[in-house]
Amino acid sequence: MKSISILGSTGSIGINTLNVIRLHPERFKVTALAAGSNLDLFAAQIKEFKPRLVSLEREEDALKLSSIVGPSVEVLYGAEGAESVAVYDNPDVTVSAITGAAGLLPTLAAAKAGGVVALANKESLVLAGSIVMAEAKKSGATIVPVDSEHSAIMQSLVGHRREDIKRIILTASGGPFLDRPQEDFVNITPQQALKHPNWDMGAKVTIDSATLLNKGLEVIEARWLFDLSPDEISVLVHPQSIVHSMVEYLDGSIISQMGAPDMRGPIAYALAYPERIETGVEPCDLTRGPLEFREPDMKKFPCLGLAYDALRAGGTMPAALNAADEVAVRAFLEGQVAFTAISGIIEDTLTRNAPGNGATIEEITSADRVARENARRAVKKVEL
Ligand SMILES: NC(=O)c1ccc[n+]([C@@H]2O[C@H](COP(=O)([O-])OP(=O)(O)OC[C@H]3O[C@@H](n4cnc5c(N)ncnc54)[C@H](OP(=O)(O)O)[C@@H]3O)[C@@H](O)[C@H]2O)c1
Repeated sequence: MKSISILGSTGSIGINTLNVIRLHPERFKVTALAAGSNLDLFAAQIKEFKPRLVSLEREEDALKLSSIVGPSVEVLYGAEGAESVAVYDNPDVTVSAITGAAGLLPTLAAAKAGGVVALANKESLVLAGSIVMAEAKKSGATIVPVDSEHSAIMQSLVGHRREDIKRIILTASGGPFLDRPQEDFVNITPQQALKHPNWDMGAKVTIDSATLLNKGLEVIEARWLFDLSPDEISVLVHPQSIVHSMVEYLDGSIISQMGAPDMRGPIAYALAYPERIETGVEPCDLTRGPLEFREPDMKKFPCLGLAYDALRAGGTMPAALNAADEVAVRAFLEGQVAFTAISGIIEDTLTRNAPGNGATIEEITSADRVARENARRAVKKVEL
């Protein structure tokens, strides 16, 4: 029986993780859960899965929850609460699925603890990839990516030598605006951007998929997970989202992993790693139509290029990129700025980021804070 801690249990990844766990009561036991502010769903999850420790973002919600769940469950709150959940009772697997930079410290705590880190929170590697990977190496933790692309790469690397890799190819669905004329991008509404053609995800990652910034964050994530240079990481648009990513080897062979676009697949791979288990995912019907691949249009989707630039610049640049994007996406969702303003806000913020080598968490969190202030100023300049 594996013990599981879940950070972000009320989100899209968290809910799908519990859906997989529900299929395998003999294999998995949930010991700790953390969430943000969705009290009703969190209370229902606690009732069903009976974790011993839970945490919410804010103290007032934690107090309310305590009165609902009673004294048998310890209720914490805040960043420290999430960190405690990450490592409670040395879980076999910590699922890191809080969204945004808020996921960094609990993920780092899990990496230091030495179990399996099922990593959905790509932001922790974008902000502090070298630190998280070094801590995992020191403790013996295994980081198993939950992002479908990185899970596909990990699966396509099994049985091959690192030195035989020519490059990896991350696939991108292209999002809802792949074929929309660029002149019309200025009219894109949050409702339209939140309708992803293939994946059902949280709001932030869905908007990032529409701008292709998500693919840029994934390029940075891949750099750290697989120890590759930016030139060894390519992106191809694949609108059907069946080929989840590929590795090209020196002899010209390309090994890929395919499956239906359903996050229960990569989640189950991470939970049961190195075994494979039932997921409830419908089989993938390859007769349903052609599989297409195209180069990404970097002019139409400038956020992807900005992410490559930030990765090449290194230091705190990726942290600034992520912080600016979090601010810009929120402003877009709240109707403050146009969809087309997102890349400009990020670019403006990056040009103001003081170069730093990003060697410590303090330096990274300080760059994150300053970038958020700069991004808020950039939002004001282009407010609708
Ligand atoms: N969804 C996908 O298919 C997918 C695929 C690949 C990678 N990812 C990555 O996985 C992560 C989660 O994505 P998601 O789509 O599941 O997001 P989501 O649906 O927005 O869920 C986010 C989760 O984080 C919790 N949360 C947010 N801020 C928190 C804080 N400060 N403290 C504690 N909990 C907090 C939320 O709690 P409340 O809802 O209770 O407020 C929720 O449980 C992101 O990094 C994303 O890029 C997602």
